[in-house]
Amino acid sequence: MKITYLGHASLLIEAHAQTILVDPYITANTLAEHIDIGKLEVNYILLTHAHGDHILDVETIAKRTGATIISNFEIVTYYQNKGFEGHPMNHGGTWQFDFGKLHMVNAVHTSSFPDGAYGGNPSGFVLETKHHNIYIAGDTALTYDMKLIPKIFGKLDLAILPIGDNFTMGVDSAIVASDFVECDKVLGYHYDTFGYIKIDHKQAKDKFAKNKKELILLDIGKHLKI
Ligand code: NI
Ligand code: MN
Repeated sequence: MKITYLGHASLLIEAHAQTILVDPYITANTLAEHIDIGKLEVNYILLTHAHGDHILDVETIAKRTGATIISNFEIVTYYQNKGFEGHPMNHGGTWQFDFGKLHMVNAVHTSSFPDGAYGGNPSGFVLETKHHNIYIAGDTALTYDMKLIPKIFGKLDLAILPIGDNFTMGVDSAIVASDFVECDKVLGYHYDTFGYIKIDHKQAKDKFAKNKKELILLDIGKHLKI
């Protein structure tokens, strides 16, 4: 599995010859100016919630690629009403896609669309492929529900956690979240994009290291393979 960081909470995941774009917020992100959304090959767009900093580039990319939008029922219905393809899910549900099994899990946050439309409840996802399991937390606070993830889905190879604080959990909570999901390898996201969520990279990594954990912070456009 290859995971490319596209800035903020945007990820491009390649698994089993399919490409899944998560929460595309690229064209308004000045830190991601070098990413050309016109060049992204995308089969699926996975959305954790309806906030503008997660859905900004959905329509442009879905229009060009015909990608299937996967999200909660309300968000998928919103896009289906505009003529886009979608696969609705809800919390606790699992579906076998061609790229792997996807489980929708809880997140504690909010989820209205920028135009005020109701965006259902926010979520995270566990992606289970033949060889690897990853957890994409979405925008969330630290929650005790995270303890259910290793109980139900088995060992994670990577946990992708928000670390920017203010709108989501910050570094200290993410360290506890990493304990709860029983995964010491963490890719941080949802940081640095706006003034509210700027973090000190070295201090964040040192805190994880002190707890015998690894915090990976990718430059925008760079990838990791698991
Ligand atoms: Ni949000
Ligand atoms: Mn956000």
